[in-house]
Amino acid sequence: MKISTKVQKRIDKYSPQGGLDQTAKIILSLTGINHPEVREHKERVALLAEAVAKELKKDEKAAFFGGLLHDTGKLTEPHKLFDGHNITAEEYALVKQHVNEGFEALKDHHLFTAFCAGLHHAMFYKGYGLTAKDLPGHWHMGTVKKVLEISGIISICDFIDAFTHRKTKIKDGSDKKSSNLKKILYEKYPEDRLIIDIALKEAPKMD
Ligand SMILES: [Fe+2]
Ligand SMILES: [Fe+2]
Repeated sequence: MKISTKVQKRIDKYSPQGGLDQTAKIILSLTGINHPEVREHKERVALLAEAVAKELKKDEKAAFFGGLLHDTGKLTEPHKLFDGHNITAEEYALVKQHVNEGFEALKDHHLFTAFCAGLHHAMFYKGYGLTAKDLPGHWHMGTVKKVLEISGIISICDFIDAFTHRKTKIKDGSDKKSSNLKKILYEKYPEDRLIIDIALKEAPKMD
């Protein structure tokens, strides 16, 4: 299964430093082998996060690559966790490990993007994974603010994509199809209504 042309073009356009372009391509290809639906999810989240960051005049390149690699940790998890069955509490505990695994895989190569992977499920009340306390103490306040902002955008885009596309019943609220998505998001991310409104406006354009 090939990486979509739209995503390939974006990766080439940004030509990021430090080999992030090659890392992104290889991780996407690897993810596509056992988890094609996860790879498609990562591509949609990347394009949505990029569009939201652009509208908010934030770093769209950081949002794109953070989105593209946010679920890197799922690569090492068994496919049966994502096959659409109603997962057990034990299986959910396994799924949750993908944030730490993704951070571990990326941290020595692309630290900013690694934190986006580690933080993307911790940006809301009762989330999980790394937190702001795990950020390097020597980081400039501007970098800390930026990684939290970009991770917040990715987190919201991730939730929207899971809610609208995922078949698997994950116990994070993203399977509550009967509920109003905007209402769930406003409750989950009370400080981020502007990001939510923009993401909901842009999301239908990503398919
Ligand atoms: Fe995730
Ligand atoms: Fe995700």
